[in-house]
Amino acid sequence: MYDRVTARAYTNIALIKYWGKENPVLNLPTTTSLSMTLDAFYTETSVSFDQGILADSLVLDGSEVDNRRVHTFLQMLRENIADFPHVLIESHNQVPTAAGLASSASSFAALTVAMAGLLELTAMPEELSRLARCGSGSASRSIYGNFAIWHKGEDDFSSYAESFLDEDIGLTMLVAHVSEETKKISSTDGMQRAQASAGYARWVAESEKALEEIKPAIIAQDIEKIGLIAEENALSMHALNRTAEPPFDYFTDTTRALVDFAADCYHKGFLAFATLDAGPNVKIITSRKEEEAVLARFKAAFPDIPFDICHAGPRAEVRDAH
Ligand code: PMV
Repeated sequence: MYDRVTARAYTNIALIKYWGKENPVLNLPTTTSLSMTLDAFYTETSVSFDQGILADSLVLDGSEVDNRRVHTFLQMLRENIADFPHVLIESHNQVPTAAGLASSASSFAALTVAMAGLLELTAMPEELSRLARCGSGSASRSIYGNFAIWHKGEDDFSSYAESFLDEDIGLTMLVAHVSEETKKISSTDGMQRAQASAGYARWVAESEKALEEIKPAIIAQDIEKIGLIAEENALSMHALNRTAEPPFDYFTDTTRALVDFAADCYHKGFLAFATLDAGPNVKIITSRKEEEAVLARFKAAFPDIPFDICHAGPRAEVRDAH
C-alpha cells in the first residue's frame, strides 16, 4: 500500500465543445465532444491518507482552499468504490504565464489518477475517464494524450472518453492570455443558461454534424479543415450564449479583435482559426510549420498580450508512488 501518490494530467481544449448537461449530477452531456490535450499546461496532484485531519483537505499551490466540487468528488469515490480515511490533496497548477488557464479538466483528471493509485484500483482508462467526468465533464478527456472523444452516452456507464487518435498530427494552439480573472459565469451556469436558449436544439444538431466532419479531417491531418470546423463550433457556442436565458457573453473587446485578426490572417493565406472556452482567452489553431509566422503576426498586432505555444500533450499518469 502506498503512503502518497502523485499524478500529472494535462489540460485539453475541445475542438467540438461540450456545452450542455443532460444530467447535471453525473455530468452527462447533451453532445459528444472531441479535444486535443495540450503539452504546456498541467496539474500535478499528490494524495495521501491523513489520520490527523478532521476532514478532506485541499492545498492548491500552497494555500488551503475549500472546494465544494472536490468534496463532492471524494464522496462519490467513497460511495462508488470504497470508504477511505480523510485525504490530504496537494495540487500544483503549471501554467507558463501568469495564470488563467488553470483548468478543471487537468485538475480532476490528475486527482482521479492519483486517487486510483492510492486506492490501488486496477482501472481501465475508460473507468478513470468515467470517474473524472463526475468531477468535471471535460476532465474525462484529459485522461488521454493527443485526441480524445467523449461519447455522450446515456447513463453513468456509457458516458466516458476514449482515445480518438493517439498521434501528434502537427496541430499547434497559440494561447492568447486576454484576462487571468476568474470567469464571471461558471461553465455550469453558462451551460444551464445556454440550454434555455431557443436556438439550443439547433446548436446540438449542428454540433453532431460538425463532429462527423472533423473526425476524417483529424485522421487526414487536414489542419485547415479542422480549424474551420472547430472555429465554427466555438463561435456558434458563443453566439448561443448571447441568445441565452438570460443572455451573457464571455467576449471582451480584445477577444473580438483576436478572433477577427485570426480571420484576417486566414484570408491572407495563413492557417489561423480561433477557438474559445468559458472565458475571454483565445486559442489560435495553426500548424507547426506556420506557428512562428502566425505568432509573429499576432505579437505585432497585440504587443501587450502574452502568448504560449502549445502542441499535443501526453496522457495522465502516476509520476510517483511510495
Ligand atoms: O468541464 P467543465 O464543466 O469545466 O466544462 C468545460 C466546457 C468548455 O470548456 C467550454 C468546453 C469543453 O468541451 O471543454
